[in-house]
Amino acid sequence: MTVPIAIIGAGIAGLSAAQALQKAGQTVHLFDKGHGSGGRMASKRSDAGALDLGAQYFTARDRRFVDQLQQWVAAGWAAEWKPQLYHYQDGVLSPSPDEQTRWVGVPRMSAITRGLLKDVTVNFSCRIAEVYRGQKYWHLQDTDGCSHGPFSRVVVAVPAPQATPLLAAAPKLAAAAAGVQMDPTWAIALAFDTPLDTPMQGCFVQDSALDWLARNRSKPGRDAHMDTWVLHATSSWSKDHIDLAKEAVIEQLWGDFAELVGCVVPAPTFSLAHRWLYARPASNHEWGALADADLGLYACGDWCLSGRVEGAWLSGQEAARRLLEHLE
Ligand code: FAD
Ligand code: NAI
Repeated sequence: MTVPIAIIGAGIAGLSAAQALQKAGQTVHLFDKGHGSGGRMASKRSDAGALDLGAQYFTARDRRFVDQLQQWVAAGWAAEWKPQLYHYQDGVLSPSPDEQTRWVGVPRMSAITRGLLKDVTVNFSCRIAEVYRGQKYWHLQDTDGCSHGPFSRVVVAVPAPQATPLLAAAPKLAAAAAGVQMDPTWAIALAFDTPLDTPMQGCFVQDSALDWLARNRSKPGRDAHMDTWVLHATSSWSKDHIDLAKEAVIEQLWGDFAELVGCVVPAPTFSLAHRWLYARPASNHEWGALADADLGLYACGDWCLSGRVEGAWLSGQEAARRLLEHLE
């Protein structure tokens, strides 16, 4: 019997590791506490169509990620987004075009991780509380008290604060994860029956509670029956208002949006708010991935590199590389 490798987290880092391990002939078994894949690249289905509430777009700068991206584009999972970009600073809104190529999942951000799920065994709605080692193999205990295993090795691919307790068997790894601060982001979505009278499709915001605005339906392949917008607050505003009720968060950020967007903004037909508790690492690290190869315990995720989609994918590749290297 082949003893599989467990991967905790079906975000882009966990699925990147899964794909690399499977390609090398290993059997993997994923676990995620969510109902579906994607983690911070997930999209929310709503009355206004699917909305990208987390990652908005991604850039590809590393050769390996560029190659992977080309395959996703060929498979129809990703496409270029060419927004009319603006910039808001010192109370002034101005167009801010640039040469950067930006990518999104199609028809929604979660399409990429969904595509990567093919041929992978996953337990969704399964939150892992403990990773423990028997005499030879690893076992996972979930929050319902069920135990899963045996596994030959375990890859922990969740945000650093959630990884810390799962890495307890390797104190050095747990200590490294515990040292990573991750900041929150409040996200809201607004939908309008009548399109707002602005050509803006994306905006980098400064000196405001808001950090970023995106016209969701301007992305390729999106449902366009309503004019949908996704707004992100800054880390500092999100921290200061971490326990604010969702209705109050919508009210405040909608008000700030209406002030800066430069056109009349009616009350939205539809709105929602989502709080990302562990949205982004407060600083970048150069670890690639964390490994205790003798024990067979690994950690990956955006917090091991840059806090971006590309960093998370590269980190998953690195965890798989280090695991496979030790098998040789
Ligand atoms: P995650 O996506 O967080 O995946 C971890 C998974 O583990 C999740 O699915 C979670 O459900 C699961 N999990 C956690 N704990 C457990 C447990 N105990 N048991 C089982 N499962 C568990 N990046 C960009 O490149 N461009 C952007 O524009 C951008 N914008 C962003 C905007 C926001 C609001 C946020 C939140 C993030 C944004 N990012 C952006 C960052 C990007 O989304 C992340 O870097 C990337 O998606 C992280 O992937 P990951 O696999 O490391 O982690
Ligand atoms: P990028 O190159 O488009 O943007 C990087 C940064 O450069 C932007 O944040 C912005 O400050 C600036 N910038 C880029 N183009 C600009 C323009 N035309 N006009 C004005 N400013 C511009 O993308 P990259 O490097 O892939 O970064 C990912 C994005 O994801 C960043 O914007 C980052 O803030 C965001 N992000 C948000 C998170 C959150 O929790 N809200 C978490 C992780 C990433």
